[in-house]
Amino acid sequence: MPAELSPIDKAKFVAARRATAFVEDGMKLGLGTGSTAAWMVRCLAERVRDEGLRVVGVPTSSRTADLARQLGVPVASLDEVKWLDLTIDGADEFDRDLNLIKGGGAALLQEKIVATASDRMIVIADAAKEVTQLGAFPLPVEIIPFGWQTTKALVEETLVSLDVLNREVSLRMNGDRPLITDEANYIIDLHLKRIANPRQMALVLNQIPGVVENGLFIDICDIVVIGHGDGRVEVRDITTGEVAEDRVIFADTDNIFADLGD
Ligand code: A5P
Repeated sequence: MPAELSPIDKAKFVAARRATAFVEDGMKLGLGTGSTAAWMVRCLAERVRDEGLRVVGVPTSSRTADLARQLGVPVASLDEVKWLDLTIDGADEFDRDLNLIKGGGAALLQEKIVATASDRMIVIADAAKEVTQLGAFPLPVEIIPFGWQTTKALVEETLVSLDVLNREVSLRMNGDRPLITDEANYIIDLHLKRIANPRQMALVLNQIPGVVENGLFIDICDIVVIGHGDGRVEVRDITTGEVAEDRVIFADTDNIFADLGD
């Protein structure tokens, strides 16, 4: 393992490593987006290479598709595969009910479609992503570019009637231009600080014309794998209520880190 890997990166890596143990031969998999999901793709690629594991992955972004192809994980589109056994993805925040905020990497739309088209969703995260109440992380909302200022104003108006601590809304930028998602849309970030009722928020936001999808994942995630920098992992299953602790050994990881170019 590269010496300079930070404790957060180690935590993300061990969560990803533990989650890939859920993958079985022949599975159709949703491949998440973000730095934690990238570790998962690397771990999966290692199993494909070393064990001859046969899987097909549906990437949730062009970035993940590029990484999977580069590392030799077979990929297909959701329309080719239609339904998935399992999706493994990161999150920006998760609460005790495993409701999530996602979209910090601007891929929430494909992520939500893919996770919803899966028998199970596993979230992989470092422990800092756990919150008692969602909302400290700005909630991403994907909107279409046409009339985006009107859509933003309608979102701001809607927030007035919702129980939140702050109501600032910003257009996500990429340099001096609006960030464009894989689906050619914009993202607005809702700086709410606290969302008292995430289920209501998710439903109400999606009623606004111009809103394509919001980054609240309600009742979608089944299992969270929480990683720590010292190799400990906790696996919580919301369906069974089981909590298990485990440890990932940082040995024999040279293959995984080879593509990092340390
Ligand atoms: C991508 O749009 C997001 O939903 C990511 O899954 C989320 O931002 C977590 O990213 P990291 O794993 O990089 O923290």
